[in-house]
Amino acid sequence: MLGIGNKKISTESYKGVRDFFPEDQAIQNYIFGMMRKVAISWGYDEYGASVLEPLSLYKSKTSEEIVNEQIYSFNDRGGREVALRPEMTPTVARMIASKIQELPVPIRWFSIPNLFRYEKPQRGRLREHWQLNVDMFGVSDFWAEVEVISIASDILRKFGADDKDFKIKINSRAFLDDLFKNIGIDGDKVQFVYRLIDKKNKMSDESFRHSLVTLIGEEKTEELLKTFYFGEGLLTTMNQSVATKHLNQTIETLRDRGVSNVVFDPTITRGFDYYTGVVFEVFDTNPENPRAIFGGGRYDNLLSSFSNQSMSGIGFGMGDVTTKDFLETHKLLPKIKSRTDLYICVAPGADVAKIYQIADELKDKEINVTVDISGRKLSDQLKSLDKRRIPFVTTIGSEELEKKVFVIRNVETRKEKSGGIDEIVSVIRDNS
Ligand code: HAM
Repeated sequence: MLGIGNKKISTESYKGVRDFFPEDQAIQNYIFGMMRKVAISWGYDEYGASVLEPLSLYKSKTSEEIVNEQIYSFNDRGGREVALRPEMTPTVARMIASKIQELPVPIRWFSIPNLFRYEKPQRGRLREHWQLNVDMFGVSDFWAEVEVISIASDILRKFGADDKDFKIKINSRAFLDDLFKNIGIDGDKVQFVYRLIDKKNKMSDESFRHSLVTLIGEEKTEELLKTFYFGEGLLTTMNQSVATKHLNQTIETLRDRGVSNVVFDPTITRGFDYYTGVVFEVFDTNPENPRAIFGGGRYDNLLSSFSNQSMSGIGFGMGDVTTKDFLETHKLLPKIKSRTDLYICVAPGADVAKIYQIADELKDKEINVTVDISGRKLSDQLKSLDKRRIPFVTTIGSEELEKKVFVIRNVETRKEKSGGIDEIVSVIRDNS
């Protein structure tokens, strides 16, 4: 027996996670469907894994903030430390490393896992979200960057977005490493400066500056901030190191390919310590939704934690929450219909077994159909359609069963057609 005494259990879900009622699930399916379709069109293979991972997988590999503050973990009955995955990149790196000898490069994989982070729930941030992960392994050339960023742009365009609706901000950690070296920021300071820059947008200019001064001193802070103001000019003023060339080629090739909304931003670093090369973050340009929708980057050394053979990876994670917010803000979510094509109302006294046979015949012809077996008055059966979003309805009684002729009505236009099973099928097919 659930509940204690007369006290009822709350119907609310756990804080920061969502229930997906059918209408919500339909939207989620639409979003996943588009992500999947685009990833497959670029030749990526879908993979999956358990939400449970050994906690040790994340201890040195993911961001400090995630491990120290956001991970859901527990000890299992055997005393093992277990985590609910907070991100997919360590998992995919582990999986690739386990078959590194067998898999032909380039390896192109995608997945849409649910991830768990103990965050303060707010707009765009929940404790469980789903995240499309698109990753390529085994290619160090800039064409890998171009491809992966093109896929990111392609997905938003396929949802109906215009290039002016979003901005792809791009930078490179290898490029920043060069810059830091020039300024004299080195050793373990580098990771801290990265983390600080990653948090820059959540801080006031003053406290960002103050934290930098504490970390690297007044002079180096001035120099770093000065170079940031150069914007895109920085790419030409910096000596053309391998990293600068790689970043320049990526940006130029993306623009040549028509990805017009790529912009260089030296303050994009991304929060994970494993990124080593190009990093990027996609931003909504609408002032009502001024946030990062998703991001990713290149990681050279993650696989070497599992295998003697190293292999570079590059990819991105695109969250369902931020994607839905983006689509809502830009009014790009379609009106979702029910997946049921036809609602059959049962007239008083009709033989339900025979109606189910008709339904079976329709299902064999790939029409999705449901029978109202509530036993309610016909008028009530029909009224329930207001909330069902099903496009067609028919009422079946003894006469229809006998003649095998049915009147089918388009619920929205109220237009009616009558005919046998095949005619019903073609009316429905013509509509979809
Ligand atoms: P991330 O920036 O932590 O990267 O997450 C990527 C995206 O997932 C975010 O931009 C956002 O859309 C979504 N996201 C993250 N946390 C939450 C949350 N608490 N609630 C809702 N949405 C969230 C990664 O996770 C990298 N592993 C991505 C990657 C794949 N890099 C290379 N390959």
